[in-house]
Amino acid sequence: MIRFDSVSKIYPTRAGEVRSLDGVNLEIRAGEFVALRGPSGCGKTTMLLAAGGMLRPTSGRITVGDESLYSLGPAERARFRARNIGFVFQMFHLVPYLDVLDNVLLAAVPSGLAKAEAGKRALGILDRLGLGPRLSHRPADLSTGERQRAAIARALLNQPRLLLADEPTGNLDPANEREVFIHLREFHRAGGTVVIVTHGNTANDYADRVVSMESGKVVG
Ligand SMILES: Nc1ncnc2c1ncn2[C@@H]1O[C@H](COP(=O)(O)OP(=O)(O)O)[C@@H](O)[C@H]1O
Ligand SMILES: [Mg+2]
Repeated sequence: MIRFDSVSKIYPTRAGEVRSLDGVNLEIRAGEFVALRGPSGCGKTTMLLAAGGMLRPTSGRITVGDESLYSLGPAERARFRARNIGFVFQMFHLVPYLDVLDNVLLAAVPSGLAKAEAGKRALGILDRLGLGPRLSHRPADLSTGERQRAAIARALLNQPRLLLADEPTGNLDPANEREVFIHLREFHRAGGTVVIVTHGNTANDYADRVVSMESGKVVG
């Protein structure tokens, strides 16, 4: 499903080069649930953004499905991403002036999903995630757990094959963290591939495999 071949990402900074990814080789099979771990600054977010088509590596090749992601032009890559990849950010990245339903429907635009179908799907997903009674709330009027579930709903709208989540439970209490994992597992059991960056041990109960990183490298 995802394949990293000798992937490096180097940031030139005033203090010199930062090697955020350093020759990463990794294969994640379709249908796997993978937890990605490692100390702060080791390159986890860089990995996820690169796998999600949002950050071009300095060298190497990233394949998602049958596509060599960065061989696609920007517009093609955006379309591929919208149709195949859901992304959940640690800080939610919900649009503050839109309500829950419209935040979720935003995802329909780049994928070209028809409005009526998108609306029907969004309502179904939000209901499953327990946000049925919160459709017209804005993010500021939600609990943090509800915000993250809204962000997950948005990531699921286009029925992606791959869900990438960057510390989605980093700001949540244990009960809400469990709930997020339960929803990820539901996606996984329906055939989806999940890669989640996480620090806690909760992931051990849900993931098929833990991948550890250190200083821009995969170490086991
Ligand atoms: N835009 C950037 N410019 C320069 N350095 C960056 C940039 N983004 C990330 N880095 C550096 O790359 C390394 C890996 O960052 P990141 O992938 O965010 O790590 P993690 O998510 O594991 O904490 C860090 O040393 C970070 O400071
Ligand atoms: Mg990070």
